[in-house]
Amino acid sequence: MRNFEFYCPTKLIFGKDSLAGLNKLIDKKERILITFGGGSAKRNGVYDQVIKALEGYDYSEFWGIEANPTVETVRKAVAQGKEYKATFILAVGGGSVIDATKLIAAGIVSDKDPWDIVRSHYAEKVMPFGSVLTVPATGSEMNSGAVISCKKTKEKFAFSSRHPKFSVLDPEVTYSLSDHQIACGLADTFVHVMEQYLTVKDESMIMDRFAEGVLMTVMEIAPKIRQDKTNYDLMSNYMISATMGLNGFLSWGITEDWATHSIGHELTALAGLTHGASLVIILPALMRIMKDQKGPKILQYAERVLHIKEGSDNEKIDKAIQMTEEFFQSLGLPTRLSDAQVPQNIDNEIVKRFADRRWKIGEARNIDSSKVEAILKLCR
Ligand code: NZQ
Ligand code: ZN
Repeated sequence: MRNFEFYCPTKLIFGKDSLAGLNKLIDKKERILITFGGGSAKRNGVYDQVIKALEGYDYSEFWGIEANPTVETVRKAVAQGKEYKATFILAVGGGSVIDATKLIAAGIVSDKDPWDIVRSHYAEKVMPFGSVLTVPATGSEMNSGAVISCKKTKEKFAFSSRHPKFSVLDPEVTYSLSDHQIACGLADTFVHVMEQYLTVKDESMIMDRFAEGVLMTVMEIAPKIRQDKTNYDLMSNYMISATMGLNGFLSWGITEDWATHSIGHELTALAGLTHGASLVIILPALMRIMKDQKGPKILQYAERVLHIKEGSDNEKIDKAIQMTEEFFQSLGLPTRLSDAQVPQNIDNEIVKRFADRRWKIGEARNIDSSKVEAILKLCR
């Protein structure tokens, strides 16, 4: 087991009607900038619940944070927050609104341009913020990371901000999510766990079992949610799986990968694919190309998560990769670039970007532009 540090100061409030308790989480003296997405919160009643809970507070609303939030939108929110003299920010939305808020919170207390903050990888100072989560997927409600796009340059990069002070999780707010958004959220959750699990064998027995538990839960609930997305217990398990998938807990003492995410972010930046939809295309191909390195762990996954009993080790590994791809397809998501209508020239641009940046990614830092090219070829 590797050395590790763990710090996660986010207070989680989970359950039915939990948004009503927002006023117990924010001091009355705060001037709150409330950040929203494009309007789903107005349509599904989340906005009304938030505003009712914050009766008597000073607040200013910022609307229009898009999926895959852009620095261009963040700049507008920072200007509004500065003018309003905000002292606290409340994000109401999915990963995109929470991620954007992590940058707004850094931009408000800085003279730097928000894109410079992203490119410095770490925000020095950040205004306190909390969240009301409406999409289970990213774990942003309980981690300090954020991923921001730049419309002008068609780039998408992660940076490190701070954890939310609190996050409120009411599974009932997820009932209005589209089938596609749920599929992408389940896929994102699954791949987050795989990025932390499918690396080096025998590093941590306990973390392996936790990761396998989340993977098995997601596989078990996914078809049931497709039948009934307003089932409270199913959506609760989905929500907690997503939070546990990327709140830092599963990475205690283990080696992490994140290559699927790095390539997926380029697909989103250049071809506009939804985050979860980009990952399900990359992961099976990456498992095939990195089969020798990841073989022992894929075998463990085959036997313990997918319960594959028949065949040689090699056959079990191949079957596990095939079953992973089929699981993603069962969510209704295309697992090939051609099926997702991504033009061929995008592949070349991604390979060029990896070459120009001299990036070497993955758990062994050995996935370079030539491996990325091979992975993308297999994704066709
Ligand atoms: O904008 P509105 O109208 O609110 O619509 C949103 C959006 O179009 C809608 N939506 C949100 N809550 C809803 C709802 N629709 C109906 N009912 C509700 N309750 O859903 C759409 C997608 O929302 P978004 O926030 O984009 O989804 P998600 O949570 O998947 O976030 C994706 C973003 O997070 C980043 C991704 O790269 C992407 O930019 N990630 C952040 C991470 C992190 N901070 O640690 C890690 C992840 O790997 C990921 O990269
Ligand atoms: Zn993700």
